[in-house]
Amino acid sequence: MISFPNAKINLGLYVTERREDGYHNLETIFYPLAMNDALEVVPAAKAKLHLSGKAIAGDEEKNLVWKAYQLLKQQYPDIVPPLDIYLHKSIPMGAGLGGGSADGAFMLRLLNDFCKLQLDDDTLAELAMQLGSDCPFFIYNKPCLAYGRGEQLHPIALDLSGYQIVLACPEVHVSTVEAFKTITPKPATFDLAGLHRLAVEDWRGKVQNDFEEAIFLQKPELKTIKEELYAQGAIYASMTGTGSAFYALFPSEAEVVVNMPLPGTIVRTGALSRR
Ligand code: C5P
Repeated sequence: MISFPNAKINLGLYVTERREDGYHNLETIFYPLAMNDALEVVPAAKAKLHLSGKAIAGDEEKNLVWKAYQLLKQQYPDIVPPLDIYLHKSIPMGAGLGGGSADGAFMLRLLNDFCKLQLDDDTLAELAMQLGSDCPFFIYNKPCLAYGRGEQLHPIALDLSGYQIVLACPEVHVSTVEAFKTITPKPATFDLAGLHRLAVEDWRGKVQNDFEEAIFLQKPELKTIKEELYAQGAIYASMTGTGSAFYALFPSEAEVVVNMPLPGTIVRTGALSRR
C-alpha cells in the first residue's frame, strides 16, 4: 500500500508565549501543498525502513516514519505485522515545509488503512501529537488555523488553488529547536482568524512570520530571496515555518522567472487539490 505525504506552508506564524513545558504557543495557518514524498509498506519477515531520494541526516530510529510504526506496533502488537517500509524523500528537509511531520502522520494513516485499525481522525491526530507538534495537521490535511503547539486545529475556508506557489529553498538547514531559542514571544500583530477575509494583495506587510526577523539577523543574505520573489511580481512572499524555505504566491497566468540568488533550488507547485 502506498501514500504520498505532502508538504505544507505557514501563512503567518506568530510565537506568542513560552510555556511551562518548554514548548511555545503559536498562531499560524497550515496550508497543504502539492509537493510529495512517497511512502509504501509491504509485508515482510522483519520490519525495516528503506530510504531513497534526498539523503536524510541522522539516526534512522529517529525517523518519524519509524517512530509512527513503533507507536502503533506497541499499541496493536497482534495486528500490526512486520513490514518493509519504503520512504522516498523529495520534500526539502530543514526547510519549514513539514516533510518529516507529514511522513510520520501519513505512516499512521497508512497503517490505520493497511491494518484496518478503524481509528478516526481525532484519535489519529492524538497519536500524531506524540510524534511532533506539526504532525496532527497532516491527519486532517486541509487549511487550518492552528493554536497551542500547533495541535489545536480549526479548518479555515481559504483557497489558494488559483495561485502558482513558488518555493525558493536555499541550502541552509534550520534546526527547529535552535530556531525557537532565538525568539522572544510576543502577542500576534495580526489576527489570522480573519485572513480569509483579507485579499491576498493586502497580506504583504500585515501577515508575518516571527522567525524571519531572527533568521535575517543571523543570515542577512536570506533577505535577497524574499526581495527577488517580490521583484519578480509575487503578490505575497514569506518564509515558511522556522525556515529556511520561502514561498511566493503569483497569479496563475503569470510567466514567473525567479533566479535563486543563493545556492539552492526553485520549485514550482500549488495548493493541494482536494479529492
Ligand atoms: O514537537 P516537535 O518535536 O516537532 O518540536 C521540536 C522542538 O521545537 C521542540 O523540542 C521545541 O524546542 C520546539 N517547539 C516549540 N514550540 C512548539 C513547537 C516546537 O518550542 N510549538
